[in-house]
Amino acid sequence: MANNPPNDEQIQPAVEFIQNLQGLLSSDYAAKVAMILGSGLGSVTEHTEVLAEIPYSDIPGFPQTGVTGHSGSMLLTLMDGNPLIILNGRIHFYEQGDASAMAPVIATLKALGVETLILTNAAGSLLNSPPGSVLLIKDYINFTGQSPLFGVADNGRFVSMNKAYDAEYRNQLLQIAEQNSIPLPQGVYAWMSGPQFETPAEIRAIRILGADAVGMSTVPETILARYHGMKVAALSIITNYGAGMDDTHISHEQTLEYAPKAAAKVQVLISGFLDHLYGE
Ligand code: HPA
Repeated sequence: MANNPPNDEQIQPAVEFIQNLQGLLSSDYAAKVAMILGSGLGSVTEHTEVLAEIPYSDIPGFPQTGVTGHSGSMLLTLMDGNPLIILNGRIHFYEQGDASAMAPVIATLKALGVETLILTNAAGSLLNSPPGSVLLIKDYINFTGQSPLFGVADNGRFVSMNKAYDAEYRNQLLQIAEQNSIPLPQGVYAWMSGPQFETPAEIRAIRILGADAVGMSTVPETILARYHGMKVAALSIITNYGAGMDDTHISHEQTLEYAPKAAAKVQVLISGFLDHLYGE
């Protein structure tokens, strides 16, 4: 499917709308970090000082999501004093069959001066990481055959994915995890289109091919962020074992039950990471 990626003119209304709001808050609210919250992780926002919450429906050109567990708003926050734009909810490829659905959001973040994108998601575990645990994504495999850059005409589209997830960021997060006694294995995330969960045969296949966690998001945002020159860190919140790996019935309800159990760990990791990024 050919997409029409947003150009600077198209995202300008969203950028101005958010900049005006930032100006009302404080002239020096300048977030260089943004974080997208995965399904069931909304409670991470409770550990921040929320300066403004803007429903996506109020932001010109922002895509709206219809998935339970994703409220669909942008929050201008301070986490332990550090500016952090939180995107609570994302639109997924499976909602409209459009891998570039998040393109206006990522382009707007870039125009606002965001340099670092933190991605979180709910995922199935293909390792022995149990539900409620966190996995640091070190690489991905795109099993969908889709790209959010279809239709982009400039040569920037040939973006290197050699270092999709920044090595220095990963080391930093591993250190913070160790200091706080949070187990944080690293692994490869497999992007499946969804919305149906995988079959046991698919899980067996992607394990053999090198995947450690499986989910339906994150990869398009990673590609878009790298296209815009942002650095990316990504965490998977394990909500279940991959289909067929145990006897449980995988469901979205299970995702919403287990994701909040990891919210406190995510908050500790991100807070420490922001201290590092903003130079303490
Ligand atoms: N598969 C795909 N997406 C998911 C899963 C899963 O097992 N768990 C949470 N999101």
